[in-house]
Amino acid sequence: MQQLFENLWVDYLKLTQDAERIHQLFSNLGENIINDHIALRTFNRGKANLDQIAKFLESYSYFPVEEYHFEAKKLRAYHFENKFNEKSPKIFVSELLLEQMPDNVQDICNRLINEGDKFIDENGLSLPMMPWNTITKEEYLELRSESEYAAWLATFGLRANHFTVSVNELKGFSTLESVNQFLKDNDFALNTSGGEVKGSKEVCLKQSSTMANIVNWSFSNGEMEVRSCFYEFAERFKLPNIDSLYHGFVAASADKIFESTNAA
Ligand code: NI
Repeated sequence: MQQLFENLWVDYLKLTQDAERIHQLFSNLGENIINDHIALRTFNRGKANLDQIAKFLESYSYFPVEEYHFEAKKLRAYHFENKFNEKSPKIFVSELLLEQMPDNVQDICNRLINEGDKFIDENGLSLPMMPWNTITKEEYLELRSESEYAAWLATFGLRANHFTVSVNELKGFSTLESVNQFLKDNDFALNTSGGEVKGSKEVCLKQSSTMANIVNWSFSNGEMEVRSCFYEFAERFKLPNIDSLYHGFVAASADKIFESTNAA
């Protein structure tokens, strides 16, 4: 399991310069960063859909805990927790409901899924993984005009879309707001969709995130600047009458966090 997270982290850092710099800034303050969760995106068809990823995660003793729905974005998701170690990072996996997408989006995605299924037949499912061929710049833009999520997934495949700093585990910061201020003082752009802080103490979870890094990506017919991955920050609160921190997610907040990869 440690190797799985290490592989995802190394892959994620290649696309997320901000994460490396943020890590360094916290390390310089003597902080030891604990990961609250990672998030993955996938399609709801083929051999890497949410059900298949659930089976894969089961081999690491991760099991689904709660389901979430994002109607406007046409997504459903589950969060997974490790059965034997509640301190292990949670894993949030969403999938795009392709039957709710227009035909041109489905056509492109079905082609990628078919390529992916052949690749998975030969190599098995693993994470991180880029199971289909590189799309063109035009396909990226066509997908993005209907679904930013589809464009991101078609471009980047199965990899960590974000890692998340557990604010509760930081020694020198007692609130998410103070972490946000520290990030802004160091010139990071935060996702302001729905406000800088998503959620509240009342729903037992506050979240914020950087805007995803912009990378010059090699599409099959040339390079183009697109948003890659981002870093999230989560502060959890105690549940009423229970002496433990809330460990679920809040759909309304996650809905806004998805927009961290939206075009500028
Ligand atoms: Ni997240």
